[in-house]
Amino acid sequence: MRRGKFITLEGPEGSGKSTHARTLVARMTQAGFSVIAAREPGGTRLGEAIRKLLQQDAADEPLGSEAELFLFMASRAQLVQQVILPALAKGIHVVCDRFADSTSAYQGYGRGVDLDRILMINDLAVQGLMPDVTLLLDIPVAIGFERLQVRNADANAQKDRIEREALGFHERVRDGYLDLARRWPDRIRRIDTSGVFSEVNEELWRVVKRVIDG
Ligand SMILES: Nc1ncnc2c1ncn2[C@@H]1O[C@H](COP(=O)(O)OP(=O)(O)OP(=O)(O)O)[C@@H](O)[C@H]1O
Ligand SMILES: [Mg+2]
Repeated sequence: MRRGKFITLEGPEGSGKSTHARTLVARMTQAGFSVIAAREPGGTRLGEAIRKLLQQDAADEPLGSEAELFLFMASRAQLVQQVILPALAKGIHVVCDRFADSTSAYQGYGRGVDLDRILMINDLAVQGLMPDVTLLLDIPVAIGFERLQVRNADANAQKDRIEREALGFHERVRDGYLDLARRWPDRIRRIDTSGVFSEVNEELWRVVKRVIDG
């Protein structure tokens, strides 16, 4: 049986990852493909518990960059082992909202943890698994945050620990993603999401179909 394709969505805050992931999975299902959605951090019982830990600082104890890195890695390792690898082996495609490149962008470029070490630890966490394609949803930081304001106002939600970081942090994250795309041009496809949602989704769909057929 052919192995399923592993598709990840990446990009700065508010670039549209979760909305496009949902729409993509629906379109793939409608087109007759077997597909599951996953998200990071989370996607397993352990991962969802870690997600909660990561969203807020414990009282009077800020989370250190290294501890943060390993929490993300633990969530990822569990997701890969419990969910992603078994699905791919059964020929099921997996669409994942954030994956390894998030750690490179946020903990590496954003927080300044050594990138080569992150890549090494990550390789261990994912058992060597890499996405067949990574859709880098790119948006200027200010526009991403405007979209989040609208979304969070609708949902009556507060900013989480990472969203509260200074603008400079988010600029480094975005530039970091662009750097990663230059480093892995065959895997990472940059897609400008500042335009109309349906047109952006159409572009994503074209890329994904090519990967599935290829
Ligand atoms: N092309 C677009 N035009 C206008 N609004 C958009 C577009 N794409 C997404 N949005 C809206 O922007 C908001 C943020 O999108 P979404 O939650 O998918 O981003 P995200 O990348 O998952 O964010 P986060 O980094 O917080 O997880 C949502 O309200 C979504 O409906
Ligand atoms: Mg999201």
